[in-house]
Amino acid sequence: MTDKEIKSKRREFLKNIGRLVGYGTLGGVFAGFARSLWPNILYEPPKRVRLIDPKNLAEGMNYFPEHRLFVFKKGNEVWAISAICQHLGCTVNFVPFGQKVKKKILGKIIEEEWEFHCPCHGSKYTQDGDIYAGPAPRGLPHYPLEIDPATGFLVVDMSREVKKDWRLKV
Ligand code: FES
Repeated sequence: MTDKEIKSKRREFLKNIGRLVGYGTLGGVFAGFARSLWPNILYEPPKRVRLIDPKNLAEGMNYFPEHRLFVFKKGNEVWAISAICQHLGCTVNFVPFGQKVKKKILGKIIEEEWEFHCPCHGSKYTQDGDIYAGPAPRGLPHYPLEIDPATGFLVVDMSREVKKDWRLKV
């Protein structure tokens, strides 16, 4: 190969590199522009969800892992408590006592059949979801339930909270 041919090949090689860099830069600019056309939306799970035919609820605790939600049934009353720890969002454990137990919590004697304990950093919630130990800044939210008139199924609305003594009669 002559010197002239070697120089020509080198020139061609450098041109190709230049083209590659140019196309890469253009591609990056175009990709950035295309991405800017899509809004930054966080797709959250729906807040209002259908749960179950209330006839199929067990007496006591019913857990819906896909919604991280406890639904309790006592006689003809039902209510819903979130299973999401209010510290950093771990799922709390349901801790049943098997009987009514009197406990002194925050200076008051209360009777409980269960509690909620967070396995992550030790927050503890009473049977009603009130926080009494650990780093969680607030209690577990209670959500309203209703019966969907079209299907007869229980529906929970997790977009709003209700007081802890709120009950739905079924
Ligand atoms: S996430 Fe429950 S105590 Fe930290």
